[in-house]
Amino acid sequence: MTTPPTPRGALIAIEGLDRAGKSTQCDLLLNRLISSGIPAKLQKFPDRSTPIGHMINSYLTSTSNLDDQAIHLLFSANRWEAKDSILSTLNSGTTILLDRYIYSGIVFSAAKPPVPVENPKPLSVSWCKAPDVGLPRPDIIIFLNISQEDAEKRAGFGDERYEKKEMQEKVRKLFEELRGEDSNDKEDWWVVNAGGTVEEVAEEVWRGVLEALKRVKEGNGEVRSI
Ligand code: TYD
Ligand code: MG
Repeated sequence: MTTPPTPRGALIAIEGLDRAGKSTQCDLLLNRLISSGIPAKLQKFPDRSTPIGHMINSYLTSTSNLDDQAIHLLFSANRWEAKDSILSTLNSGTTILLDRYIYSGIVFSAAKPPVPVENPKPLSVSWCKAPDVGLPRPDIIIFLNISQEDAEKRAGFGDERYEKKEMQEKVRKLFEELRGEDSNDKEDWWVVNAGGTVEEVAEEVWRGVLEALKRVKEGNGEVRSI
């Protein structure tokens, strides 16, 4: 008698602006998956624990400076170094929650104001996306959508490099463009109104997760690529 192969886990990306509640929702979701008997793991990006992550951390906390292209490639490299572990975890039947992924990677870099002399144009979305091509593609991208108004009611920003109002406004616009433009990936986006209570948001997030699990069940078992 042969035992059927373990179905792979789902790859679920949680995206949104700073203060949208990603980390709170990721923690709740991880507990809910595990208590429902679905093996699951959280993978946060940037992963500040690796040598590349240390470089990213010193950049974000402004202890080091790097040009826009160099830091962009480090964020991408920080995902590539996790790729094998993501794939083997999924293939062993464990679902992975990604707290930010390539979508933050694209919009945060493309949102930066151009440096006048050396680099007069902002980085384009297509340039920003290129280094991530080939990474595992999420089965769903759950986007925690928070209005400017609701975001402003929440606790203030920290003091990291990108946690500034103008930058966040640009990021919001670029996320909107990305969701609309990315016609190949359109069905992958699951937009949740993140302005509700923690429980309301968690319920909508959970519906997105059930959708991702259904897609995996109906799929051919392979993890797609970006
Ligand atoms: P964040 O998830 O906010 O970290 P923490 O929860 O520790 O505050 O990520 C830090 C910042 O990095 C955030 O402003 C978004 C930015 N970022 C990029 O610029 N590129 C990327 O590829 C990723 C994953 C994040
Ligand atoms: Mg943050």
